[in-house]
Amino acid sequence: MKISFAAPRMPRSGTVVVAVMDGRKMSPHAIEIDKQSGGAIKRAMEASRFTGKSDETLMIPAPPNMGDVSRVMLIGVGKPRPGDRSVRQNRGGVILAALNGVGEQNASFFVNAFKGKDTALAAADLAYGARLRSYRFDKYRTKEKPEQKPSMKELTLLVDGPKAAEKDFEPLDKIAEGVFFTRDLVSEPANVIYPESLAAEAKKLASLGVEVEVLDEKQMKTLGMNMLLGVAQGSTRPARLIVMQWKGNPRAKNKAPLAFLGKGVTFDTGGISIKPAGGMEDMKWDMGGAGVVIGLMKALAGRKARVNVVGIAGCVENMPSGAAQRPGDIVKSMSGQTVEVINTDAEGRLVLGDALWYCQDRFKPQFMINLATLTGAIIVALGHDHAGLFANNDQLADRLTAAGKAVEEKLWRMPLGDGYDRMIDTDAADMKNIGGRDAGSITAAQFLQRFVNGMPWAHLDIAGTTWSKKDTAIVPKGATAFGVRLLERFVADHYEGK
Ligand code: BES
Ligand code: MN
Ligand code: ZN
Repeated sequence: MKISFAAPRMPRSGTVVVAVMDGRKMSPHAIEIDKQSGGAIKRAMEASRFTGKSDETLMIPAPPNMGDVSRVMLIGVGKPRPGDRSVRQNRGGVILAALNGVGEQNASFFVNAFKGKDTALAAADLAYGARLRSYRFDKYRTKEKPEQKPSMKELTLLVDGPKAAEKDFEPLDKIAEGVFFTRDLVSEPANVIYPESLAAEAKKLASLGVEVEVLDEKQMKTLGMNMLLGVAQGSTRPARLIVMQWKGNPRAKNKAPLAFLGKGVTFDTGGISIKPAGGMEDMKWDMGGAGVVIGLMKALAGRKARVNVVGIAGCVENMPSGAAQRPGDIVKSMSGQTVEVINTDAEGRLVLGDALWYCQDRFKPQFMINLATLTGAIIVALGHDHAGLFANNDQLADRLTAAGKAVEEKLWRMPLGDGYDRMIDTDAADMKNIGGRDAGSITAAQFLQRFVNGMPWAHLDIAGTTWSKKDTAIVPKGATAFGVRLLERFVADHYEGK
């Protein structure tokens, strides 16, 4: 879908979208169209339940005296809250979904102007919301007829100062590209995305100026990453460690970078501790954390963020086979600590433990933030509306929580502590990889913390938020890319040089 900005003028075709406030109070452009069409808007509102509440819609087909205009669409804006960016972005998504719902191909939206408010940014936000909602992973649907596909081809935002709006939209569009890249990677099945092919996808970021290295098994072996390699050893697909660097702030090149890490289990059968068949196909998105880190790098590089960031993805496939790791095996991690693998299905922490250690050892970053579809237990605790946040640092936790609120990717902080940490002690080795049924998400986080050498660190357990079974305003069902917009915002708010 093409998105463009133009100065306000009455469109001659397609759908014209205008705002109506609470109590059926028409915006200036609605009033103008109502006049031109001989009162069609007023009559349509009176003949319906539409009252102008936020995100209500009403379609008025074939309005009189409007040339080839196919319909007027009313969008409720409630009591306008001109400063609220999420409200605007969501509204863009709602409008796009409604236009696709009636099979429209071309629409123009009169953006409401408010005195003293940034109308250009408002238009950009509406466009961004529409863009985010327009995502669809349909490359394998070969028999779909054109009329079953989303119809919208062109959306024009009518706004005073369209050039300024275009400029505001540019970085947002780059973020959307990062989000879409993540959604694509996460949606792909595991016969298409496996450690090597995921690394090949990450390498494409080189065209944006991201430095991408890919460590193979031999290199990881030399580094002593036996904990990660133990997970991969049952699969015919060899493991890869993807290391991405975006150096957008050369003036700070001697300062520690920011580091983001992701769990990249391209398929999680559970290994020898095999999962039940029902729903196992979901485990193609067990690389969601890695997908987010790759998409985040794309977003930051795409909009040329003035910041130095390292992105690391630990990529393995967790399979049962004659070569697979057994329950009870003891492995030595890169940190030197030994781990008794009680359950081969608790594999994400094994992968991330070595990745975290490698990251701090090599880059000595300001902090490390990892994302992982780590535990089913976080879904039991928080459902699908919040991701779990674990942190050893309050400032980091507060900044992440605030960024999550701002972009509606919400986090809920969970506790860490010695009592939980003791639950992964074992007689046979320095630690075991599960802590029993109780507090499953917390003991998983405690495990990760044992591979963090004192520096500020946060872990986002995104098992409940990586995939969605229902549409929301700007996130169509399927892969959500939860974390990309959150971390982009977190970086923009606190770590970007001027
Ligand atoms: N990838 C799963 C966690 C998961 C479950 C993600 C459901 C998304 C949806 C993880 O590797 C896993 O299997 N965790 C186990 C841990 C247990 C063996 C301690 C779990 O949650 O059951
Ligand atoms: Mn598992
Ligand atoms: Zn897993």
